[in-house]
Amino acid sequence: MIVRLNRYLAECGVASRRKADEFITEGRVSVNGNIVIELGTKINPEQDEIFIDGEKIKLQSKVYFILNKPKGIITTTSDDKKRKTVVDLIRTNKKIFPVGRLDFNTTGLLLLTNDGEFSNYLTHPKNGIEREYEVKLDKELQKVDREKLLKGIYLDRRKSKFTNIVFPKRNNFYLVKVTTVEGRNHFVKNMFSKLGYTVKELHRSRFGKFKLKDLKKGEYRELNKKEIKI
Ligand code: URA
Repeated sequence: MIVRLNRYLAECGVASRRKADEFITEGRVSVNGNIVIELGTKINPEQDEIFIDGEKIKLQSKVYFILNKPKGIITTTSDDKKRKTVVDLIRTNKKIFPVGRLDFNTTGLLLLTNDGEFSNYLTHPKNGIEREYEVKLDKELQKVDREKLLKGIYLDRRKSKFTNIVFPKRNNFYLVKVTTVEGRNHFVKNMFSKLGYTVKELHRSRFGKFKLKDLKKGEYRELNKKEIKI
């Protein structure tokens, strides 16, 4: 069976398809001893030998974790400065990676897997997967600004909005719960910052159909077969 190289790398749990494309263009992937940098390269997994950074790729069974990320942990698979990463929090012998990212001091729901297709589906903008965040602001959110954020403001020259904004606690306008389908880096902070607010605390409480339920900060669990059907 002939498949596209990026798809195969994703299936093997190397990364999402888009990330696999980056690895290819960076010259990190070889097929039968030759570096390939062309996107769209096709391979035959039964015959071809694929290496990434000199390491042979093989199919591995898929695993899925849901983590309540604590503060002070970076969302990558490795760090040059030897800081603790989200992957270090999970005990597995599989090569997992985070589905999207949360900032160093953001807490809450993060999925980790070695299934590139699963990750690709959840993070691709065309699928409009909702994210819900609990936000603590430096000042009370004004009604007029709430309306602006719901109607849409320009961020990086793109119209950007929250699809819902509620106040979870009565008479507390510092605390807001926002919903968005945006996955751009620092999206929530940048939206508020554009209107002069600073995000003091940020916690993701939902990602698509996934919720933390009773997972405490730093805790994680494996998702079951039923849960991973997306
Ligand atoms: N938006 C942010 O600004 N930071 C996060 O960590 C997630 C969403």
